[in-house]
Formats: sequence, structure tokens, C-alpha cells
Amino acid sequence: MSRPDTPLVSTQQTSSGGLLSLEPAVLAAKELTVTYENGFTALTGFTLDVRPGEIVSLLGHSGSGKSTFMKAVTGMAPATATQLSVAGTEVIGAHGAQLRAVRSDIGYVFQHFNLVPRLSALTNVLTGGLHAAGPLNRLGLFPRAQRVRALELLDRVGLADQANNRADSLSGGQQQRVAIARALMQDPKIILADEPVASLDPRLAGSVLSLMRQIAHEDGIPVVVSLHVVELARRYTDRFVALDAGTATHRGSITELTDDMVSSIYGEDPINVRA
Ligand SMILES: Nc1ncnc2c1ncn2[C@@H]1O[C@H](COP(=O)(O)OP(=O)(O)O)[C@@H](O)[C@H]1O
Ligand SMILES: [Mg+2]
Repeated sequence: MSRPDTPLVSTQQTSSGGLLSLEPAVLAAKELTVTYENGFTALTGFTLDVRPGEIVSLLGHSGSGKSTFMKAVTGMAPATATQLSVAGTEVIGAHGAQLRAVRSDIGYVFQHFNLVPRLSALTNVLTGGLHAAGPLNRLGLFPRAQRVRALELLDRVGLADQANNRADSLSGGQQQRVAIARALMQDPKIILADEPVASLDPRLAGSVLSLMRQIAHEDGIPVVVSLHVVELARRYTDRFVALDAGTATHRGSITELTDDMVSSIYGEDPINVRA
């Protein structure tokens, strides 16, 4: 059964050591429904609040509505809701400057990284700040302050030594960390990561998710991440919501995710049954 998020009444220590804050939700979705142009309803009455400092996993089969949720939050899917807001800005009906504001508050991380392959890691990170950079200077260069910030962020994700290397010369795990640095360059209020480790081997997946958890817990920027390997959700996220055919079926603290729930979410898929 779906139940609405219970508001936090006190600061709580999370299973992985982070602190859930009492601050208002950065992302508030209430009774969110998405019906695509062809009449198919991919998300029905979905409710989720995400607060500073937490990393929340979205679980569910392929086709259950995880990407649809993230698209709706960025104003890219036809949605209705009693509330859908990011950092206090209402998404539904937003256009022009309001929609740009919503999108610049969201750092989006994709499965396939979406870097520009022939540009350097540094330039890829710099493109994340384009909305704030203003016009490039006469030589087509980014302002110095932006370059310094981009280098700091590459250092933060452990890739300072790769700054001048082309994106397509980096490993998948490195490319995803560049993509995270690019998202941080936006100074996002929240990060949405849609299957960010689905193309990575397990060791690299861990390094990317541990970076995301650190961003949530240490920088306070909440992360919503869709994952299809439950063990990764258990290890790296604070809380989970499971979707089935567009409806939330289970949710809770990640420590409340039982093997029975996993079987009911995924069936007997061996990848998701605990060894
Ligand atoms: N643009 C679209 N038009 C119609 N149906 C869509 C569209 N995008 C996704 N869907 C459908 O919505 C459902 C949910 O898709 P999606 O959100 O991508 O699921 P997930 O990310 O969990 O795999 C699927 O049945 C998918 O085929
Ligand atoms: Mg998807």
C-alpha cells in the first residue's frame, strides 16, 4: 500500500550516518499524475517529499515510471498534481523564466553521462555553469572564476589530474564523476540521477554512488536516484520508494526494506535477492 511521507518531527540519524534535516522539502510532489499524449498514464497519484541532506532511491521494474517521475519534476512530461515544486517554485504550468529557474535548480545525471566526447573534462564541467556564466569573453573563454570553480569540482570528484583530457578518453566511472561535477557547477538545489550506474561495473558503481551520498550528506544537496540493483540502494541510500506500474507500492527507511518487499517489487530476480 502507498502511504504519504510522514513529516519528520525531529532530526534523525540515518542508517548511513547522515542527518535528515528539518528544513522544508526541496522537492515536493503531491498526487502527481502523468498521462502521455497517447493517453497512457505512466504515473498515478505519486507523492514524495525530499529534504536537504538525504539520498532517496527509486526502485521498480523497467517501465514502472521512474524516469517519468524525473521528467515530470523538470517540467518535461505532461503532469497534473496538487503540488509539484522544486526549491519552492511550482513546476506545473511554469514556462519561460520560471521553468528555466526550476531547471537550473536541478542537477540531472543520466545513465549514459551525456558528456561532449571531444571536449575536455574541464570544459564539460564548465558547461554546467553556462546559465550563470554570462557571455564568454572575446576569446570564447569561460571567466576565470568559473574555471577555478570547475577545477575545484573536478578535484572534489577525484579527477583534477584528468582536467585537460578528452571526455571520451575517460573510463565510464570517471565520465559519470565528470557529469556529477558538471551538475554541481550549476549550484543545484537537488540532484536527480536516472539509473546513473546502470552502465558501470559494480566497483565503479560503488564509487559513483558513494560520491552522491557524500554530496547529499555533506553538502546537504538531496539526491533522488533510480537504481535497479537493490543491494546498491541498501548500501548507499537513506530511504526508498518502490514503483509498480506508476503507483508507489512500498516506501520507508532503507533499513525497513525487507527481502519480502524486494521479492514483491522485483519477483525472484536473482540480482535482487540478498545472498
Ligand atoms: N513519451 C511517452 N509516451 C508514451 N508512453 C511513455 C512515454 N515515455 C514513457 N512511456 C511509458 O511510460 C511507462 C513508464 O516509463 P518510464 O518512466 O520510462 O519507466 P522506468 O524509468 O521506470 O523504466 C512505460 O510503460 C513507458 O513505455
Ligand atoms: Mg527509466
